[in-house]
Amino acid sequence: SSVVAVVPAAGVGSRMQADRPKQYLQLGNKTILEHTLLTLNAHPAVSRVVVALSCDDPYFPNLPIADASWLTVVDGGKERADSVLAGLQLLNDDEWALVHDAARPCVSHDDIDTLLEVRNRSDVVGGILATPVRDTMKRESTSTPGAISHTESRDRLWHALTPQLFPAGLLTAALKQGEQKKVVVTDEASAMEAAGYQVALIDSNPANIKITRPADMPLAAFYLQQSQQ
Ligand code: C5P
Repeated sequence: SSVVAVVPAAGVGSRMQADRPKQYLQLGNKTILEHTLLTLNAHPAVSRVVVALSCDDPYFPNLPIADASWLTVVDGGKERADSVLAGLQLLNDDEWALVHDAARPCVSHDDIDTLLEVRNRSDVVGGILATPVRDTMKRESTSTPGAISHTESRDRLWHALTPQLFPAGLLTAALKQGEQKKVVVTDEASAMEAAGYQVALIDSNPANIKITRPADMPLAAFYLQQSQQ
């Protein structure tokens, strides 16, 4: 069954201190969002791309890809999970949803290939790109904010990245169930874990950064340039 990329891009990106949502910032000759959508669509396994945008988004219609036949636009929702659910409505239950942050334009086809291999495994229902934690992790004190309560073990601790790959029907049900049970769902895997499914961790290339702060822009430009060589 086919693989459909679902891209939540309805956030405002307030940490970027920019005049527009971060996915519309220019990176070389294209916006972040165009890099992301074009890279996903260029992968041979991806059959089409669904993007969730904020309802009154004035920037998207001006992009050269706005009317592309491989791309469908849906209205996003209040939370990231709502935007993903809106996108999933356009998929059949047995299609694979490859959910990917708009703000990660540097994802490589090699990483997507490795993630797609989880489709052949019977021990997991899907998987996510991730990277092991390298820094020492501190828990902040609740009684003395700004001070350390204790050190968390980083043993077997990973950063969750995207893409995250799941059968569309299972993911839709898990996200709806997560909403009902008030599970904190900050990525697709959190909903799948809460529903009791096994999810694979796939070690990602560190170039797959999420653009969050202004200093991430030159770094992303560097990684994009590297991948085009
Ligand atoms: O804010 P953050 O970087 O965690 O957002 C991750 C992704 O989720 C971004 O691509 C953002 O546009 C998207 N998002 C969304 N709908 C929301 C909130 C965030 O599509 N309501």
